[in-house]
Amino acid sequence: MAGRENARWGAQSHLSEVGKLPTPFPREIGPRAIEYLREIVESGLTVNMMGRFETAFAEALGVKHCIATPGCTPALATLAAAFDFEPGDEIIVSPITDYGTIQGLIAEAYIPVFADTEPGTVNLSAATVEPLITDRTRAILCVHKTGILCDMDPIVELARAHGLLVYEDACQAVFGEYKGRPAGTLAHAAGFSFDSEKTMGADVGGCVVTDDDTLAERTRFIGHSRGGIQEPGFGRVHEEPGYAYRMPQCTAAICLAQLEIIREQVAHRDAMIRLLSELIGEVEGVTPLPIPDYMGVYSAWMFGMSIAPAQFACDADEFAEQLVEAGIPGASTARYYLMPEACTFLQRWSAEGRYPYSRPPASRAYRYGAEACPTAHAFLDTWIRWSTFCEKYRPEHCELAAQIVRGVAEANRR
Ligand SMILES: Cc1ncc(COP(=O)(O)O)c(C=O)c1O
Repeated sequence: MAGRENARWGAQSHLSEVGKLPTPFPREIGPRAIEYLREIVESGLTVNMMGRFETAFAEALGVKHCIATPGCTPALATLAAAFDFEPGDEIIVSPITDYGTIQGLIAEAYIPVFADTEPGTVNLSAATVEPLITDRTRAILCVHKTGILCDMDPIVELARAHGLLVYEDACQAVFGEYKGRPAGTLAHAAGFSFDSEKTMGADVGGCVVTDDDTLAERTRFIGHSRGGIQEPGFGRVHEEPGYAYRMPQCTAAICLAQLEIIREQVAHRDAMIRLLSELIGEVEGVTPLPIPDYMGVYSAWMFGMSIAPAQFACDADEFAEQLVEAGIPGASTARYYLMPEACTFLQRWSAEGRYPYSRPPASRAYRYGAEACPTAHAFLDTWIRWSTFCEKYRPEHCELAAQIVRGVAEANRR
């Protein structure tokens, strides 16, 4: 289509974000990255850097298996394929997220059923999931949005009672902790992203983790080996449709180097997001995302806050614009995070009864759009976030950010 603007990513998407606070780019890279990259080149591509990263990441997280991919979108797509549910089966999923969370569900012709958020938060909960469970539900996919972890124990318990699988999209929560356990180890499997903008920013990387030996083997078979096996006297036969989603060796080298500095960075992010939340929470009419008591380390990828519309003469978009003008790079509302609204193709397909939203394979009619998740929709209307929050923040940046928020709040107070 003429005039269509293609997506920008990584540092390119942050070029316009300048202000008085630090931004993630240029990223700090673990000091051994060059050494690992040199190994790849000097060995003539014979080192198995991907395997080394997989072992190191699994060990760091305390899981049995890590299967490295070129991003979280492919990681979750591989998992979706590996689960081998039927077209028309339903996966209950968080509504506020990135398209990468659901891409694999669409590719497998599963039906994403978006659970609403728990009021005042960015995440789904057992209470919002439960009413959506039907005899076609197969799994629950929990996104830990911004790094705030979903309350997983009640979700896992609910799933157990209904014989459902639970898995995590831990893209925004690397090394965050829930009751002392790391994100990605809280259910059956998880996907991570090491996209250059993410907390463990490497390149366009990601992985699947799981303790399930059979699932790990299947994920590797489908995700790395294109579902192919060697047949003597013939060659490769493809027993299943699969992918060649292997993490590039150079990405693995950077991931390995990042892994060596990430724990310290995440601990620092935790301290800074708590300070930032406390300071901004002192501004009347502004409420930072609540940090649940069950969270240990808050591996925060972005900062988010709600404004009370009755207190201000401007709306959230204007409030955010003024934050940018006053020096907070990248502050904005983010209504596009609401997947049932943002995925207009889902609205179209379900309205048209197009496969798999036809009967069969679906067992009922589906409705997408903002009204599918009214709590999440209303929440995003007054929610402002900046994903430029990063490990470069120091206490003085938190104080400056709070001062800017206070200034904008007072200038617009009714
Ligand atoms: C919650 C969530 N899930 C999935 C993705 C997709 O990850 P990737 O870009 O590594 O494919 C992202 C990336 O923004 C994300 O934030």
